[in-house]
Amino acid sequence: MNAAGGLDADVLADLRAMLRAADYTVDAVVEAMGLQAHDALARNSTVPAERALRDRHDPLATLIRLWPLQRPVARSALETALPGLVEPLLASGTLTVAGTTVSAAVDLRPYAADDQTYWVFSDLTPGLDTRTEPMRPDFVLGLSSASTTLAQLTVRDEVATALDLGTGCGVQTLHLSGHATSITATDVNSRALDLAARTLTLNGVAAELLDGSLFEPVRGRRFDLITSNPPYVMSPPRSGQARLAYRETGHVSDRLMEHLVRYAGDHLTAGGTCQVLGNWAHPADRGWDERLADWIVDSGLDAHVVQREVLDVSTYVELWLTDAGLAGTPQYRPRYAEWLDYFAGLGIEAVGMGWLMLTRAGRDQPWVRIEDWPYAVEQPIAPAFAAEESWVTASRASEADLLGRAWTLAADVVEHSSGQPGAPAPQPIVFRRQRGLPRAVEADTALAGVLGACDGDLALGAIIDALAGLLGLDAAALRADVTPGVRTLIADGWFD
Ligand SMILES: C[S@@+](CC[C@H](N)C(=O)[O-])C[C@H]1O[C@@H](n2cnc3c(N)ncnc32)[C@H](O)[C@@H]1O
Repeated sequence: MNAAGGLDADVLADLRAMLRAADYTVDAVVEAMGLQAHDALARNSTVPAERALRDRHDPLATLIRLWPLQRPVARSALETALPGLVEPLLASGTLTVAGTTVSAAVDLRPYAADDQTYWVFSDLTPGLDTRTEPMRPDFVLGLSSASTTLAQLTVRDEVATALDLGTGCGVQTLHLSGHATSITATDVNSRALDLAARTLTLNGVAAELLDGSLFEPVRGRRFDLITSNPPYVMSPPRSGQARLAYRETGHVSDRLMEHLVRYAGDHLTAGGTCQVLGNWAHPADRGWDERLADWIVDSGLDAHVVQREVLDVSTYVELWLTDAGLAGTPQYRPRYAEWLDYFAGLGIEAVGMGWLMLTRAGRDQPWVRIEDWPYAVEQPIAPAFAAEESWVTASRASEADLLGRAWTLAADVVEHSSGQPGAPAPQPIVFRRQRGLPRAVEADTALAGVLGACDGDLALGAIIDALAGLLGLDAAALRADVTPGVRTLIADGWFD
């Protein structure tokens, strides 16, 4: 019998069967408490859900009270919901007992993803109902919006090997189990590895769990896919206190991100991809994008960086002080001042947040794109990232191949034009994508004519020549004029 985080695999198998029997699923939980109460719970308010469940004493209601609402429940009620399991759950420290009631010591909640229900162990959500409570340095974060963002970004091609760097509660490994033959998950926090082990065994997912920092536990090894939601928060050393492992390390400024970017290539197989969420500094004296470009160029990898948001330092500090449960405590003001001093000393005036995708494409001239995209994205975004490498390769075709191919404009492209009624040529003509990053391009008459004719019938060269005839232009000049723009559009995935 194997043990995962102090729980026998048999106990976890029984637990899974009973969670299923009680219908402890996302849909059933939402239905039991109602959408409004569920939204309130997402904001850490439990009262609406508690009221909604007050007349219910069935197993599902007991499990909701125990875990998401963090209420003590009668031991007898839990024995009914999880027959035979209360004792081993107490013995493993998953539950605690006080008289006739039991409480959750760690969280366990359903997670709907990849068309199935998983259950995820983590530490209990802090700060329910505005409680202020100090967080333990080895706190293990549960499902967060960042976890979901990374899961949505991650390219889901079938791979032989995958690395989940900083696995925490194990959520990314659950996703990887759907398309990776062998998964390695690492963390520096032994409690995280413990809870991840429980999560994975509970869901019947196999992975190699390794203790260690960054790439150190996988020295000399390569993976087809690396995924990481690392502890990227840039914070000052906590005077006399340990750092919060789930979000920060001892790296100064954004050196953690720099390390990941610079060394990811040493751990990627040929064609392998590393996808990372991150924060990076905006120094007062240099462009953020130039700094990231330096890290990337040295790595020799293809890269796509998408900056989703920029926070000024005060907003950043407030966000993470609140996240650490310090709002409303005496430490809030001194910590705030200390953090501002830290940023001022480093010359950081704002912080960028976003996504990095690095690919070991092996190009003589790596493709690097670093951009701001604060706008909406169309989910699922991962297929767009998955296709990028082939788009870039296609965009670098020889002139003869480019002009000789019959391109088909992507099916999601729409054209908008506006102008005076009756005007001979509407201006501007805007083409807009509707999938992935929904990019737009303003086209002049020639480019609009070319794009409009790209339906897979005629080669690009023939389209441009025909258009030159119609517009009374020199065909060679029009080719030279149009093809650079078309190459850019190909690299951005405008053609199927
Ligand atoms: C933000 S949590 C992400 C957890 C989970 N992967 C997710 O997507 O929700 C970051 C994780 O990285 C771990 N971590 C912290 N420092 C690390 C380091 N130097 N090397 C590897 N993992 C680290 C933390 O313990 C934590 O579990």
